Amino acid sequence: MKKIKFYGGGHIPLEMHKAKVIQKITLSPVDERLKAINEAGNNQFLLKNESIFLDMLTDSGVNAISDKQQASMMTTDDAYAGSRTYYLLEEKIREIFGMDFFLPAHQGRACESLLAKTFVSEGDVVPMNYHFTTTKAHIMLNGGRVEELAGDEALKCDSENPFKGNFDLDKLRNLIDEVGKENIPFLRFEAGTNLIGGQPLSLKNIKEVSAICRENGIMTVLDASLLQDNLYFIKTREEEYKDSTIREITREIANQMDIIYFSARKLGFSRGGGIVLRTKKLRDKMTELVTLHEGFLTYGGMSITELASITQGLDETMDMDMISQGPMFIEYMVDELDKRGVPVVKPAGGLGCHIDARAFLPHVADEEYPAASLTAAIYLVAGLRSMERGTVSEERNPDGSEHIADVELVRCALPRRVFTRSHIDFAVDRIHWLFDNRELIGGLKFVEEPKTLRFFLGRLAPTSDWQERLVEKFLEDFPEGF
Ligand code: F0G
Repeated sequence: MKKIKFYGGGHIPLEMHKAKVIQKITLSPVDERLKAINEAGNNQFLLKNESIFLDMLTDSGVNAISDKQQASMMTTDDAYAGSRTYYLLEEKIREIFGMDFFLPAHQGRACESLLAKTFVSEGDVVPMNYHFTTTKAHIMLNGGRVEELAGDEALKCDSENPFKGNFDLDKLRNLIDEVGKENIPFLRFEAGTNLIGGQPLSLKNIKEVSAICRENGIMTVLDASLLQDNLYFIKTREEEYKDSTIREITREIANQMDIIYFSARKLGFSRGGGIVLRTKKLRDKMTELVTLHEGFLTYGGMSITELASITQGLDETMDMDMISQGPMFIEYMVDELDKRGVPVVKPAGGLGCHIDARAFLPHVADEEYPAASLTAAIYLVAGLRSMERGTVSEERNPDGSEHIADVELVRCALPRRVFTRSHIDFAVDRIHWLFDNRELIGGLKFVEEPKTLRFFLGRLAPTSDWQERLVEKFLEDFPEGF
C-alpha cells in the first residue's frame, strides 16, 4: 500500500493489489443481532459467522492470500515424510532469518507449549515486554511466571511514543539482580505486542536488550507472530533504518535471537507455525516433542498446502507494498475515530484499531468488563465482531479474585487485504454513533466461566436491560434496522 497525495487534498492509503475472488457477506437487522448476541452469551467467539457483517475479531488465519500463494498450493509434493514442499519452506526460513534449524508446529500456541515444556520449570521467571494470553498460560502451566518489563508509557493509551512495546532496560537489569539469571530460562520479545494495541519494539531496543541477555547468558526468544507490522514500524519510525530494506531489518532482528517462533496464521498470511533455532543443540531438545505432539518433522501438524502458502507468504512479507497495507489501513481507522473524539490507542499500532474501552465507558466498572460490554454494543449497532482485550482475557488470580487488566481494549482487527475503505467508513460511522450514545451501554457478568482462557468459551449476560434500550435508540435513528 502506498500513501498517495490526492489532487483534491489529503493523503489516502492506496491498495497495491486488486481483488480476484470475493465472498458475499450480509448485514442482518438490529433485532436479529440482539437475538444472536444473546444466544452467543455475549461472547464474540461464540457468534456464528453468518450473523456477522464485518468480522474484525482477528486476522489470525483469515488474511486474504495472494495469487502466488494460491498457485504454490497447487503444486505441492504430498508426503508424510520428506516432502519437497517442506524443504522449500526450510530454505526460505534460512534465507530470511539466517538461522539453520526449523521445527514445524500446527500454530503459534503449539510453539509456545513446546518451548515452555522444554525450558520452563517450577519457579522460573520469563521476562517479556508484555504477555500474550496463550504464552502466559503455557508458562504458568509449567510452573513459571511472567514478568512484564515494558516501559511505563506502554499502558498510556494516548501517548505519542512510537515504540511503546520497548523494554525498560532498568527494569530488566533489576529483575535479573532480583531473581537471578539462573532462574530465567529465556527472555521473550513480542514484536509487536498484541494485548497493548499492537505497539512495536524498536530495533535499537531489541539490540540493547539482547546485549544485556548475552552478558548474562540468558537465551533470547522472539515471538514473531506480529513481526510484519513491527518491520513496517521500524522502517517508517526509526530514523536509523529508514533506508534499510525489510530483509535487512529482519536479518538484524534475527541476529539478536537464539530462537524465533511464529504463528503463521499471522506471519506469512497463512495457517500453521514454527520454531526457528540457531543451533542443532537447541533443536535436538525439542524434536521428540514435535513428533509426539505435532506430527512428523516435515509437516508438524500442518497440511502440505499450508506449508507452500507459508513459504510464499514469508517471501511476500519482505515486500513493503504487501506489509504496509495492514498498518496503513489501521492508521486510517484510528485517525478517523480520533477525529470524531472516540478514544483510541495512539499512535496507531499493528493488528487492528484499538479502542480504549475504559475511556469510552467510564461509567462501567472494571468488574463489569467495559471492553467486553463494548464489543457486544459494537456488534449490536454495526454487525461488527471485534475482540475483547481486557479483564475477560485475563486469568483469575490464584485466590480466585478478579485480575483487573492494565488496559481495557476493544480490538477491531483488520485482516490483511480483506476489507475496503467503505467497510472501514461504515465501522467508523457506527462506532461514532455509539460513542454519542455511550451512556446507554451497561456492563456484563459471567454466567458460565471456564477456569482457563475463559474468554474463548465463557458466557456472559447484561447486568440490566441496556441492550434493549440501546436497540430502541438505534431504531429511532436508523428505522430500517441497519
Ligand atoms: N503470539 C502472539 C503475539 C499472537 O498474537 C498469537 C495469536 C499467538 C502467539 C498464538 O498463535 O493463534 O497461532 O496459536 N493471536 C491471535 C489473535 C489468536 O487474534 O490475537 P496461534
